[in-house]
Amino acid sequence: MNTEVKAKYLKDYKKPAYAIESVDLLFELFEEETFVTNTMQIKKTDASVNDLTLDAVNLELLELSLNDLKLQESRYIIEEEKLTVLNVPDAFEIKIKNKIYPQDNTELEGLYKSGDIFCTQNEPEGFRSITPFLDRPDIMSLFTTTILADKKKYPVLLSNGNKIKCHEDFKERHGVTWHDPHPKPSYLFALVAGNLGSISDEFTTIQGNKVALNIYCDLGNEQKCHHAMHSLKASMKWDEEKYGRAYDLDIYNIVAVDSFNMGAMENKGLNIFNSAYVLADTDTATDANFMGIESVIAHEYFHNWTGNRITCRDWFQLTLKEGLTVFRDQCFSADMNSAQVQRIEDVKALRERQFVEDASPTRHPIQPESYISMNNFYTATVYEKGAEVIRMVYTLLGEKNYRQAMDLYFETFDGQAVTTDDFLWAMHECGDFDLELFKRWYKQSGTPRLHVKESFENGTYSILLTQKIPDDVDGKKQKPCYYPLKMGLLDRDGSEILAKTLIISKESETFVFENLKEKPVLSINRDFSVPIIVEYGEAQFAFLMKYDTNSFTQYEATQNFALRTISEIIESSAINDDFVDAYGHLLDLDVDLSYKALLLELPSVSAVMQLQKEIDFDAIYDAQDKLLLHIAQKYKEKLLDIYKQNHLPASASLEAKYIAKRAIKNRALKILSILKNDEVAELAQKQYEESLTMTDRIVALDVLENLHVSYAEVALQDFYNRYKDETLVMNKYFAILASSSRYDVLERVEKLQRDKVYDEKVPNLVRSLVGSFARNHKHFHAKDGSGYKFLADKIIEIDKINPQIASGLCGAFKVCDKMNKHNQDLIKKELSRVISTQGLSKNSFEIIDKILK
Ligand code: ARG
Ligand code: ZN
Repeated sequence: MNTEVKAKYLKDYKKPAYAIESVDLLFELFEEETFVTNTMQIKKTDASVNDLTLDAVNLELLELSLNDLKLQESRYIIEEEKLTVLNVPDAFEIKIKNKIYPQDNTELEGLYKSGDIFCTQNEPEGFRSITPFLDRPDIMSLFTTTILADKKKYPVLLSNGNKIKCHEDFKERHGVTWHDPHPKPSYLFALVAGNLGSISDEFTTIQGNKVALNIYCDLGNEQKCHHAMHSLKASMKWDEEKYGRAYDLDIYNIVAVDSFNMGAMENKGLNIFNSAYVLADTDTATDANFMGIESVIAHEYFHNWTGNRITCRDWFQLTLKEGLTVFRDQCFSADMNSAQVQRIEDVKALRERQFVEDASPTRHPIQPESYISMNNFYTATVYEKGAEVIRMVYTLLGEKNYRQAMDLYFETFDGQAVTTDDFLWAMHECGDFDLELFKRWYKQSGTPRLHVKESFENGTYSILLTQKIPDDVDGKKQKPCYYPLKMGLLDRDGSEILAKTLIISKESETFVFENLKEKPVLSINRDFSVPIIVEYGEAQFAFLMKYDTNSFTQYEATQNFALRTISEIIESSAINDDFVDAYGHLLDLDVDLSYKALLLELPSVSAVMQLQKEIDFDAIYDAQDKLLLHIAQKYKEKLLDIYKQNHLPASASLEAKYIAKRAIKNRALKILSILKNDEVAELAQKQYEESLTMTDRIVALDVLENLHVSYAEVALQDFYNRYKDETLVMNKYFAILASSSRYDVLERVEKLQRDKVYDEKVPNLVRSLVGSFARNHKHFHAKDGSGYKFLADKIIEIDKINPQIASGLCGAFKVCDKMNKHNQDLIKKELSRVISTQGLSKNSFEIIDKILK
């Protein structure tokens, strides 16, 4: 057992005793080693302290001097994660030279190599493995950075801010100096060196400043950067229009790298991206990929104000910047595309990932109280639930007051490292809501439920709303929540009687609506105004599917009715005809086709699983298949019609209209594929062969893989040959195979690990092969334990390479306590084996420990 691990607590926060006013960095990059020389101007802010303790991981110190005098060894102490300089004066310069090995850094934190490119990832605590520093976000300094490297291998040398000097005076080497005029925390520091291609553009801010925009990538990929550039310019414009925020440097650089632990990073003036969120063309990227790029580019750009100009005081405040920035990127995407589709997609993602997390032993409030590894808290809860909390603030304040409150927030805290309380203070100044009650959203975990009980008597309709608040993870009672609940009432012909936002503040409350001719139909939690689970008494799902005037609750009614129908099939194997009829009605709806494609999607395994006390995956798959088969048989002609109407004429256009046609057509094809007949197999095969877009190709491939072995083999081989050199496309290939329903999946996954395209050091590949398998419930939860054993072995192996990726994989086991006894025992056996592995990272330890407790 790992006994070294120690948790950090929010309540232990202390102000720093020093300020680092400026830092001058020199990087001398070589193939075998890198020398870092770090010169800092430091001042005491607390006169009572004597020693300066810097964060420093595995420090290989070469030189240390204070005010130009070399320090004797008796003047400092080096520990595993610290460098302490004893008895320092009130103000001084300290110079540290040390050596690091980026080429051997497989954790991809700090300075590392992605292929031949030097790059960095410092959030949250990577900087301390580059050079000693007060590596905490409330230390904000001015950075000047000089990079020296081989001229041929690394012609492009980048860091934050503006380029102030080129050094061309040596033969094979060259250098560049960058200066960032904005003080920033070390987690926003970035460096890139490589032989890169690029595209450039320009943006003129609302204040008339010209900003040079550059996107860098591997040579040869330049043509795939245009969508990202377009998205960047749209984001810059949107933030000016919607928030009055303009960009504040003369240059904005984005670099795409293949090896990256997360999506992207908002380093000041130099964003570094997982190439999956930059590179796209219609031959290699799906419509969903294009949307993903638009939203991540926007997300990182929006951080410039919500994250960089105003940053977090400490990492417990992470949702201050992440929740807010996700909310901003969601609104941006809603404005760029279909708002109703965007909202549904966001809620779907929230429920698939965050609700599951919030019901598991790893659940935590959006503002956690403690952590062992901060890297484990870049979660769906901090990000997506955090965004829902900001959305509630927005709903409570209304658009105008929200904008005023945001202006106040920027005015008051610009240039500072602040807390979620500071943010809420600004919101509360401009709005009328119960601040203390609302703060519970930051402190409590678990998904709240709301029970609805309706009654109608003498023209008076009332709803009794009762909150059910889950206990926290340690079994402590939590309190009722405060939120805006959007609702509407419809009359019997489906027209709207009223639309309203109720303020929910008590554990239980009755709301009364008078002077009604007949009992109305309730449409509740419109737009998903609060992230809760609604428990209906007698709900009118079929009616709402037909008549609801709110597109979100219309979708919701469909999902809820389908979930109820699937649950009934699991219990009694009978199919509710009312649902099947209502579904048939949806097929004829004349609405936006992207929205319709979502309406027609039946609930995922994860959605059904969340209803079960003890999860039974086999039963879920059987019931789903049974319902889908019934629908496909009954509506075969209509579905074929929808397919044909939208399939031709073929187009690779990215206009909304064509994206929608692809979405609805592919939805129809997927539903029809349950028929497992030659007709559908041939449609899929033809679609594969004639496809003009990756969207069509990948859906056809996936359908074939699960439908027709021999057609699939041909298509898979073709796909592999065509794309084996495109690593982003190979991710899709691995994901399809690892998610397959075929019986020999595990065997094939094991074999694919030896494919020459696969590389266990590249996070995207691990996520698409091993990660997809871990989400393939049918095979991962196999009764013989083979899926668990495979994943446990992988976690042990990958933990040695990259602890962040390993601990991400551990998450697949978090459903443990909801499984049957047999599977629980198997999981526990494997996890006990993993947690007792010598040298296991604190990242994996923290997650497994919570699951095993
Ligand atoms: N701040 C980045 C973003 O959300 C994510 C950085 C995550 N880093 C990590 N090591 N977990 O845009
Ligand atoms: Zn972010």
